[in-house]
Amino acid sequence: MALGNINPMALGKIRPMYIIYLILLSLIIFQIILLLTSAAKGFHKYFFMKELNLLERYGGAGSWVVITGASSGQGYEMALAFAERGFNLLLIGSKRTDKTVEQIQKDYPLVKTRIIYKDFRKAYTDDFFVDIQAAFDDIGDHLAILVNNVGHRVGWNPYHEMDSAYIRDVISTGTIVQSRLTHMAIPWFLERKQNKQSNQIRHSALINITAQCMHPNFLFGVTMTNEISVPYLSVYEAANAFGFYHGTSIYKEYQGVFDILNITPGAVVTENTGCLNKTLFNVSGKTYVKHLMKMIGNVQGSTCAYWGHALSNYLINLAPNMKDGLLKKVGETIATDFMKKSKRDYAIVDATAFTATVADVATIADVATVADVATVADVAQTE
Ligand SMILES: NC(=O)c1ccc[n+]([C@@H]2O[C@H](COP(=O)([O-])OP(=O)(O)OC[C@H]3O[C@@H](n4cnc5c(N)ncnc54)[C@H](OP(=O)(O)O)[C@@H]3O)[C@@H](O)[C@H]2O)c1
Repeated sequence: MALGNINPMALGKIRPMYIIYLILLSLIIFQIILLLTSAAKGFHKYFFMKELNLLERYGGAGSWVVITGASSGQGYEMALAFAERGFNLLLIGSKRTDKTVEQIQKDYPLVKTRIIYKDFRKAYTDDFFVDIQAAFDDIGDHLAILVNNVGHRVGWNPYHEMDSAYIRDVISTGTIVQSRLTHMAIPWFLERKQNKQSNQIRHSALINITAQCMHPNFLFGVTMTNEISVPYLSVYEAANAFGFYHGTSIYKEYQGVFDILNITPGAVVTENTGCLNKTLFNVSGKTYVKHLMKMIGNVQGSTCAYWGHALSNYLINLAPNMKDGLLKKVGETIATDFMKKSKRDYAIVDATAFTATVADVATIADVATVADVATVADVAQTE
């Protein structure tokens, strides 16, 4: 139809529709640009980014990394990965951490290691952190990296029948430990920033292992909530969310002062989470940590470490109705596994490990001056 034939009255009527179409089209184009930019960045981050020379960046030989919960899973793999790169290690956790140190001594005999045995379920008690503080002060400005890894995973179905002690255990381990250790490490990170002797800047890093808590929304997904939470694990999920928000807030306060990485894992299969081996985009602890090491110093703030977890965040937008169903299945799997284990051996195994822990911690607490703790640390130290 020639333009000259259009009735001006009709044009007046459809003009508002054109404006709405234009707004919608702009929004869609804007969303697509955001998506493409983010996909390009993600592609680079997960497939092309190279790991930095971490030992050089974080102060060279003699620098220490502190890791909580290094007896298994990601903590264990990270301990080995940092040892391989030449860092000394202070590992804080259960008696089973001995196994990790034995492995490090065997594979990397030049690496120095210290262990502080702790049952983090008791992190709310007075003086719990005294010996850790003394060990931090003893390591001093060689304390280069803190990895807040420990998480106390508990699931129950239905929640109201869960033993109430589990609630306290998960909250204590999952919230107090990260908050206090971060609080204790930052003064040393600030001290390191300017090495008075050589005038050399030494970087430090805070790494928090939390969980997938949120996903980005785009296109039709913008109309839905962007939380990721798994049923039957409510207290554990909330403790991970605490770590996520604590880490994010610390990042906003200290960005540019030291490196901060809030890692948000999806399903990572470890010796404790074998039940996750059928979930979508699961990855072994070893592979996961290999990817994670590439993020350190290269990426700041919150990130997935593994492409599959990042992709799953985006796919949720395409199938929003499936999200709750899938998460329910994951929660059921973990809770069923936990309930089976807790009846069978979880509590007994933990009790044994932490009986040894309590005795060892008592010894350290008895000699709680810095000098004395250095002596105790020397006993646990292998050089
Ligand atoms: N695996 C996943 O799919 C996944 C997903 C999302 C987030 N995350 C987070 O990633 C982090 C590492 O998880 P992971 O799966 O690698 O862990 P994991 O294999 O279950 O190992 C947890 C570590 O923490 C220690 N630990 C737990 N409770 C403790 C306590 N009360 N006192 C002292 N040590 C304690 C364990 O020691 P013992 O076993 O010797 O007691 C072990 O060394 C956690 O913060 C977890 O919440 C994991």
